Amino acid sequence: MQVNMHSGGQRVVITGAGSGLGRELALRYAKAGARLALADVQEKGLAETQTMVEAAGAAAFVQRCDVRDFSQLAALAQTCIERMDGIDVLINNAGVSSGGYFWDLSLEDWEWQISVNLMGVVKGCKAFIPHMLGQGAGRIINIASMAALMQAPGMSNYNVAKAGVVALSESLLAELTPLGIKVHVVCPSFFQTNLLDSFRGPDQASKEQIAKLLENSPISAADVAEIIFSRSQAGDFMILPHERGAQAWELKKANPQVIYDEMVHLAGKQLGQSSI
Ligand SMILES: NC(=O)c1ccc[n+]([C@@H]2O[C@H](COP(=O)([O-])OP(=O)(O)OC[C@H]3O[C@@H](n4cnc5c(N)ncnc54)[C@H](O)[C@@H]3O)[C@@H](O)[C@H]2O)c1
Repeated sequence: MQVNMHSGGQRVVITGAGSGLGRELALRYAKAGARLALADVQEKGLAETQTMVEAAGAAAFVQRCDVRDFSQLAALAQTCIERMDGIDVLINNAGVSSGGYFWDLSLEDWEWQISVNLMGVVKGCKAFIPHMLGQGAGRIINIASMAALMQAPGMSNYNVAKAGVVALSESLLAELTPLGIKVHVVCPSFFQTNLLDSFRGPDQASKEQIAKLLENSPISAADVAEIIFSRSQAGDFMILPHERGAQAWELKKANPQVIYDEMVHLAGKQLGQSSI
């Protein structure tokens, strides 16, 4: 049975909604009375998220959508128009993880990473912005990463993809704000989700390192979702949910060399070359 979604609260579409942060964002918007379009490549996770948001009292539909394929995003936008008469908030959240030193990463590793984490966001924006321009209103929230700002060693393809998401968001901020569309970019440090399920990289060691960082996060995916919800409503463009991440970014803006030296030191330690 199709639920009538033509009236109600804000219309929100979330990619990668079948797990982790995407699911928590869906639950946070559900709590605020939103109508939700939930998209992912994993249908089992999507169905679970739908059950959870409906239990929270929200109306939702799910659609399988691979963000690498523009035609699937265009079809998702079309369904949003048919079922909800438009879209108020687009959250480009779908993403995958990767690691490995540059000399070990293949060009296929690069293409895969860029196709999901960067081009997936470009294509999401391309599919939904025409409708937002037609409405003269809307909000876009792009999920990047602290990796975009810090460029830690051993994950250059992820760093570049996420830096691209920040640059795209800054470009859209300038172009779309005068036209009534709000833009935000989110740069979290590590937090516990299923992100490592998608891990691709040449060595197991970097996966284990990232697993430890995910486990040690002081804040949960639900906390990150809450911060994104409240700070985007408050009008913040760049949202840095982790306090230590925000401090590191302040430090890099004031004195980038301190962070460059720290990253060289870190890589030296990882590579057993601590005298560098
Ligand atoms: N967890 C962290 O530490 C962390 C830190 C910074 C940024 N992020 C970013 O947060 C976002 C959400 O990740 P998460 O941590 O919740 O991980 P997750 O793996 O739990 O969720 C990501 C979801 O994206 C989906 N997905 C992957 N490829 C897709 C594709 N091609 N099309 C559609 N959906 C696809 C997955 O199926 C999954 O359900 C990602 O963009 C990630 O890079 C995560």
